[in-house]
Amino acid sequence: YTPPYPPYDPIDKTGFSYETVVKRWPVILTGIIDSVYGINHELSSDIPNASNPSEKAGLEEKYAEGKGLIEKVGKLKYEMGRDRALEPIEDDGETLVDEYNAELARLADDAKNTWFTAPWLYAECYLYRLIRSFFAQTKQWRTYDPFLAQKQSTFKASGTAIYQLATTMHDLEAEKDTLASDPDKLEVLFREMIQMCLWGNATASHLSRDLSLLTHMSPEDIRHLQTVGKDAQQARREFILKDDQTAVWDHIKSLKDARVDFVLDNAGFELYTDFLFADFLVTYTPYISRVVFHPKSIPWFVSDVTPPDFTSTPASLLSPTFFPSPSSTPSPAQAHLHALVTRWQRYLSDGTFALSVPHDTLLGQGGKAVEFWTSPWPYWDMEVRGKEVWEGLRESGLVVFKGDLNYRKLTGDVKWPVDTPFSLALGPLAYAFPLLSLRTNKADVVVGVPQDVADALDAKGEKWRVNGKYALVSFLPRVEE
Ligand code: F6P
Ligand code: MG
Repeated sequence: YTPPYPPYDPIDKTGFSYETVVKRWPVILTGIIDSVYGINHELSSDIPNASNPSEKAGLEEKYAEGKGLIEKVGKLKYEMGRDRALEPIEDDGETLVDEYNAELARLADDAKNTWFTAPWLYAECYLYRLIRSFFAQTKQWRTYDPFLAQKQSTFKASGTAIYQLATTMHDLEAEKDTLASDPDKLEVLFREMIQMCLWGNATASHLSRDLSLLTHMSPEDIRHLQTVGKDAQQARREFILKDDQTAVWDHIKSLKDARVDFVLDNAGFELYTDFLFADFLVTYTPYISRVVFHPKSIPWFVSDVTPPDFTSTPASLLSPTFFPSPSSTPSPAQAHLHALVTRWQRYLSDGTFALSVPHDTLLGQGGKAVEFWTSPWPYWDMEVRGKEVWEGLRESGLVVFKGDLNYRKLTGDVKWPVDTPFSLALGPLAYAFPLLSLRTNKADVVVGVPQDVADALDAKGEKWRVNGKYALVSFLPRVEE
């Protein structure tokens, strides 16, 4: 499918793409170098103390490979800054090498194959796949995730919000029966839950500054769900520039024992809010009985959920030492979190919750059901280029696409006028299955927003397309052929 507008690329120096290539990617690459360097530094003192020759040889090999990785990433950073051509990805035995390289050759024909000329969406996906190929070609770093430490530390820093939401969910338990018999209350609660899941995608730094964007209802609020909930919603409304919450809820109410799919975005706090929303749907409503989660098979856009991130999340949440605890003695909030996560573990073992990937130990080995998510392709090509994924999602009652990158892929990251209907921007993917995108704005592409609303924000000088303060809730039903 070819859209009627060109893709965002860094040739336009006023766009976020340019800022990304100039400032953000070099920082990410430096972070990778630092993480490998840190481990090599430790290895250099471990090697002399190895307990036997084979252990020593393994450590030495790891050290040498670490040096090679630092060199490769350093060279990449150098070439990026000088607008060199993107090199073909070496055959590392993992997926999509040929697809990435074929597209690269096509871009070379158009003279758009350098860091400052390539389409942003392609170049950024290529970057993470290229980095993966560096690690995949080693022996000792094959399953190493260079972003793991960063993911873990931001997760640990979100303890306050995590405990707060666990307590909210605990207080809700008492209202479960009332909710079942009061559709209006259930709808208010649905809105709280979906918005919590939406704002869970805002950046961690933004969250710690502005927790008010997340739901945190007191027991009193919960008893008066209708009134209090509505006030809080009103306050947040101005930040949701497209709001299809009513249509989504109407759709969900039409389902019975259906499956919901989450195309995940970030690990840690956002994944926690995804679990919360999924839990609400299966525990509190009669409409949904199963949730399937779709991760990325390789380290991706720094913070995205990989299978190991997914599997370790319940254990981290249950660990008494993972978060700096609210007090030294077990607090009620800890008990609330424990009860919640224990339920999720039960859901994971009885199939109520499932991860879409068969493997969870080796990175880069998800098979067809997952590789599409780490391709560079816009989702309008899903039926052709991601047949297995597409067929699987056709059976879903609702597919929830989380976050900014998924939104860029849904819309192809091209320069749609801001008032383009969401359905048009999806191209051939529109109406394939019921689809919900929950996105806080962190990139230029935006559709489904009235021109005058966009103009007013521009006039205020707000960086509303990229600063993560604004959001879009975009829904489309499925239409039967
Ligand atoms: O690096 C650019 C980018 O793709 C932006 O679109 C966004 O700021 C970020 O990476 C990813 O955001 P998210 O995790 O919400 O997909
Ligand atoms: Mg992400």
